[in-house]
Amino acid sequence: MDFGYSEEQLMIQDVARRIAREKIAPAAEHFDRTGEFPLENIQLLGENGLMGIEVPTEYGGAGMDPIAYVLAMIEIAAGDAAHSTIMSVNNSLFCNGILTHGTEEQKQKYVRAIAEGAEIGAFALTEPQSGSDATAMKCRATRQADGTYLINGKKSWITSGPVAKYFVLFAMTDPDKAARGITAFLVDGDRAGLHRGKTEPKLGIRASATCEIEFADYVAQPEEVLGEEGHGFKIAMGVLDAGRIGIASQAIGIGRAAYDATLAYVRERKAFGQPIGAFQMTQAKIADMKCKLDAALLLTLRAAWKKGRGERFTTEAAVAKLTASEAAMWIAHQAVQIHAGMGYSKEMPIERYFRDAKITEIYEGTSEIQRLVIARHETGLR
Ligand code: CAA
Repeated sequence: MDFGYSEEQLMIQDVARRIAREKIAPAAEHFDRTGEFPLENIQLLGENGLMGIEVPTEYGGAGMDPIAYVLAMIEIAAGDAAHSTIMSVNNSLFCNGILTHGTEEQKQKYVRAIAEGAEIGAFALTEPQSGSDATAMKCRATRQADGTYLINGKKSWITSGPVAKYFVLFAMTDPDKAARGITAFLVDGDRAGLHRGKTEPKLGIRASATCEIEFADYVAQPEEVLGEEGHGFKIAMGVLDAGRIGIASQAIGIGRAAYDATLAYVRERKAFGQPIGAFQMTQAKIADMKCKLDAALLLTLRAAWKKGRGERFTTEAAVAKLTASEAAMWIAHQAVQIHAGMGYSKEMPIERYFRDAKITEIYEGTSEIQRLVIARHETGLR
């Protein structure tokens, strides 16, 4: 076992850390307050290979491995969680599925545009009535006599929905077959029949734009099907396995930012004649924060390592996401408590870490869904 990183992994970590410190962290408060989409920063991340880290260089990406992705995501999330949300959707949910299931033409067209940062991608699975129970979707794609598909229905909570050029969309082609009746499509945000709803106001990750997307007689061409008809659910689940490594990394980044700020604060802030970090009650919290962060990182690296070996990593990704997201929420909670009034104030980023951490327990499979995935694997029962 080797706990060291390769030169290439350290290089992308360094690039991400530099951009996060110089461009992202200083602007995080502005983007959180205004909810403005950070387009220039996202383009900068794309120019530096961070929008297609695992995408081979022939499709415009950085050609690196899943460990490199974890390291870069942590740095960007530590700078600002909303930026890392946009980055994770482009990398994991958009590029990943097309690289695995797409044709050569699809990879050249869709993956290249997103990996180079020229366009933004989105993933449209959730609907107003179906979140965790993804097979309950109602969005319909009906095959016409000429081979095209007519798509009608609504998708909700679509990250980057207001600005995305391309979407990986999941729709029912055969409702009688439930999970096996779902097909994945590559959809163009500028084509007639796709309507974007209002941007959702959110508790955290406020600069990552989220909206509902409505399809009304949207026409998809046969060559815009991703993989085979009826294979959409398995594509979605495989993509989400990879996505969960990204969200675990995001959670670690948020948790680390809250931890670092807390470490600095407990050394400096005095009460009853000494730094508050000298009190055992504070020290116990610091120790628990450190253990949770280290455990989350090691579990996330394990899932990424298994992905890099080409092995199934569903359970490892669920373990990593569950552990990391609950660690981030707990650490952010303790960070607010230790900072007390200053933790509750908008003058420090601590309350933002607290708001941002919460989403990691919800999207790309709630903590309850991660427990279900893990327990089904362990018990063999369902
Ligand atoms: N990889 C490959 N195949 C998989 C799979 C995986 N990880 N998980 C399930 N499958 C396959 C199964 O083997 C099964 O195949 P067969 O039909 O051949 O047997 C098929 O898919 C159906 O599987 P299940 O019977 O287990 O399906 P289920 O209906 O019980 O659902 C679930 C399982 C784990 C609950 C799943 O629905 C799930 O993960 N739900 C959560 C959805 C989710 O994460 N949504 C997030 C939205 S996207 C988002 O948040 C993005 C964003 O904005 C940032």
